[in-house]
Amino acid sequence: MSLETKYLGLKLRNPVVASAGPLQQTLDGVKSIADGGVGAIVMYSLMEEQIRAEQARQIAVEANHDDSFAEALSYFPSVPIRAPGTDPASSAYLRLLEQAAKSVDIPVIGSLNGATMGGWISFAKRMQDAGASALELNVYYVPGNVRIPSEEVENLHLEVLVGVKDAVSIPVAVKLAPYFSSFGEMAAQLDRHGADGLVLFNRFFQPDVDVESLQLEPNVELSTQFSGRLPRTWISALYGRIRASLAGTSGVDTSEDVIKYLLAGADVVMTTSSLLRYGPSHAATLVSGLEQWMLRKGFSSLDDFRGLLAVPNDVDGAAYERQGYVAALTKARGTYEEYSSASS
Ligand SMILES: Cc1cc2nc3c(=O)[nH]c(=O)nc-3n(C[C@H](O)[C@H](O)[C@H](O)COP(=O)(O)O)c2cc1C
Repeated sequence: MSLETKYLGLKLRNPVVASAGPLQQTLDGVKSIADGGVGAIVMYSLMEEQIRAEQARQIAVEANHDDSFAEALSYFPSVPIRAPGTDPASSAYLRLLEQAAKSVDIPVIGSLNGATMGGWISFAKRMQDAGASALELNVYYVPGNVRIPSEEVENLHLEVLVGVKDAVSIPVAVKLAPYFSSFGEMAAQLDRHGADGLVLFNRFFQPDVDVESLQLEPNVELSTQFSGRLPRTWISALYGRIRASLAGTSGVDTSEDVIKYLLAGADVVMTTSSLLRYGPSHAATLVSGLEQWMLRKGFSSLDDFRGLLAVPNDVDGAAYERQGYVAALTKARGTYEEYSSASS
């Protein structure tokens, strides 16, 4: 039996990939994830704001204009440039990436996170030079300006992708949010503009509200299995319709979640929350659960069942999705019918 899969043209020993997360912030963390049994590792993200702030500092130092330096920095959000006594974030990132790529025998993917065009994009080349097997470009952009037309948002994603693709020769995957009026067309456009893979989906940062302090509460919570449903829906709609690889990220807790993504058509299945919850060795549990299921079902390779439950190629996708919705609602009405008779 083979669990091998291809992602971004890279051959992986199995389809479970560590998505960008905090465990990757140290070399020991990266090694423990690799030892845990994943097929590849995505590093945590280096942020556009960090690179821009460092570039502004560099320009100011070279020009030796203290006043303009302070002014230049004021253009950028207050992401710390560096903790006292440490290297700039970008140098530390590159050094860790280089060490990670040399220390583990699986592909290490660099992660660049930003949402505007600019000089920071050229940093992608430095990640390539540091030994990244591929790049994941996280375009985290929330159109907070409520007047921005959807076409502008879509074009921004394409421009950033093309900028990064122009800077490197290694494969580039785009991690993005589901919130487009026609997500399928956005995915197809990214595919046409050279994305080697799509990572579905970014989790949208939604702060909670503390009703006592009357403050917003910023937090990133670990996902639950339910959050795998949206990415799976889109992976199953895109399977066989685009050239780019498909990665599912969100809601993986057990090997069943991995299997569901593969049945939908994913090339790889990523996880952060489960590695944080159970430790890096959980990857081996996910992989062995997948293996046992394949044995039970008589499958000898992932290609035997990948995309088995994807939206069939010969159907109208919109009608198919609507049909699923109507069927689900009809079933739910039957399930909860007794509530309406009890209340009458
Ligand atoms: C604590 C934490 C840190 C994260 N850091 C990053 C990051 O640096 N870059 C990124 O693209 N995604 C980051 N993510 C998102 C994950 O890579 C992943 O896409 C998301 O958590 C959904 O997957 P999960 O359900 O397996 O957690 C982070 C998630 C968590 C929980």
